Amino acid sequence: MEKKLILIAEDDPKVGESIRLLLKKRGYEIRLASNGKEALSLFRQETVDLVITDLVMPKMDGIELLEAVKGLRPEAEVVVISAQGTIEKAVQAMKLGAFDFIQKPINPRVISLVVERALEKQTLILQNRDLRSKLEDRFHFKNIIGRSGKMVKIFELIHHIAAYDSSVLIIGESGTGKELIANAIHYNSPRASMPFIKVSCASLSEGIIESELFGHEKGAFTGAIASRKGRFEMADQGTLFLDEVGDIPPTTQIKLLRVLQEGEFERVGGNRTIQVNIRIIAASNRDLQEAVKNGTFREDLYYRLNVVNIKLPPLRERKEDTPFLVNFFIDKFNQKYHMNVKGISQRAMSFLIDYGWSGNVRELENTIESILVINSPGVIDIQHLPQEIKDSQEKREVIPIKIGTPLEEVEREILIQTLKATKGNKRRAAELLGINVRTIHRKMEELEEPYSA
Ligand SMILES: Nc1ncnc2c1ncn2[C@@H]1O[C@H](COP(=O)(O)OP(=O)(O)OP(=O)(O)O)[C@@H](O)[C@H]1O
Ligand SMILES: [Mg+2]
Repeated sequence: MEKKLILIAEDDPKVGESIRLLLKKRGYEIRLASNGKEALSLFRQETVDLVITDLVMPKMDGIELLEAVKGLRPEAEVVVISAQGTIEKAVQAMKLGAFDFIQKPINPRVISLVVERALEKQTLILQNRDLRSKLEDRFHFKNIIGRSGKMVKIFELIHHIAAYDSSVLIIGESGTGKELIANAIHYNSPRASMPFIKVSCASLSEGIIESELFGHEKGAFTGAIASRKGRFEMADQGTLFLDEVGDIPPTTQIKLLRVLQEGEFERVGGNRTIQVNIRIIAASNRDLQEAVKNGTFREDLYYRLNVVNIKLPPLRERKEDTPFLVNFFIDKFNQKYHMNVKGISQRAMSFLIDYGWSGNVRELENTIESILVINSPGVIDIQHLPQEIKDSQEKREVIPIKIGTPLEEVEREILIQTLKATKGNKRRAAELLGINVRTIHRKMEELEEPYSA
């Protein structure tokens, strides 16, 4: 292992020299400077792991040196030496990020120990950071946000299967990110430099879907004035993304099955067999098993497509992703519109987290975009949220009670609804109602009495 480099800044040559000798014997590489200024210029020249600095020195003192070092390379550790009367400064140094301080006169054992611990801590931090950036590389697919357990599992799966050519079927409600995931698989696969071609099966009428997929020869049908390549040919060596695959008509399903099995097909109106090498990713917003049962989707085709199955959960089932998505979209649209929206208030964020998002991430994304475009607020707050989001909260927070309802009943209703809202958490309910937990227990017993009697 490479020797650790320690820089000593000490204006008393005797003290400086004794520390130098001591640490050199311990196997460290040492640089010695007689004031902060000299130390800083040495620090800039080499990758110093640890700085040991006296506090009171001419030209630049220990505190200034500490600040400069932490500014230049925060991972460099700093240990300060304090003489009598500089304890206050040493404490200040700790607040500014020093690892520890040692008091004069210097005890060789103490200084060795502190140095050892500082370097150990640094190694741990660096290893940790290394690990984390590796994990991020693995799980962070460009522009796909997800910290929930469910999404992290999906990222792991994608990472695992991207390298293979197996077909992938992605199922998820509208706006959950199916296309994003399809992209990620392609661009993390060995086919990344080859084409990624998308076909929206739902938007193509039965008459033209085959010519779109397989191409056609000149004169194949009225209007076919020239021969044309289909998406399969365009995607050769790359990936073909069959979006809304459930909408492919039955006759086309048979032909699709053949391409998947044999890798070959003919253009519409042609008899030349064309061979392609393609990876298929298909997507659907409803589970195709149902369609298979109904007989609208071929079972054999389903199994061909469904080699790897990815189920993208709706946003309401991974609410913990919402804050990350919100911040991601604020950044995104700040950049797009050259705005400087600083963030979002805690309360507004909790509205967004609670909201149902039937349009999933797409709806959330559009909401953030329109808030920025319409209001460009300094900080997003409740008043900037669309009415339906505000309403949805109010509905949840309001208990309708008729005028003239006996107080006892009102109390009972509020107690029950609050407990419902806190999912039975009595401590939280007590907090909301401004009473203590024991009172809640007592009131609940009272409520139950008429029924148990
Ligand atoms: N996890 C995510 N992180 C960041 N952006 C996302 C995420 N999921 C979805 N989006 C964004 O939401 C929008 C909708 O995503 P996408 O088009 O992939 O959804 P979809 O499932 O294909 O929807 P549909 O079924 O309507 O076609 C896109 O702008 C996409 O970038
Ligand atoms: Mg889509």
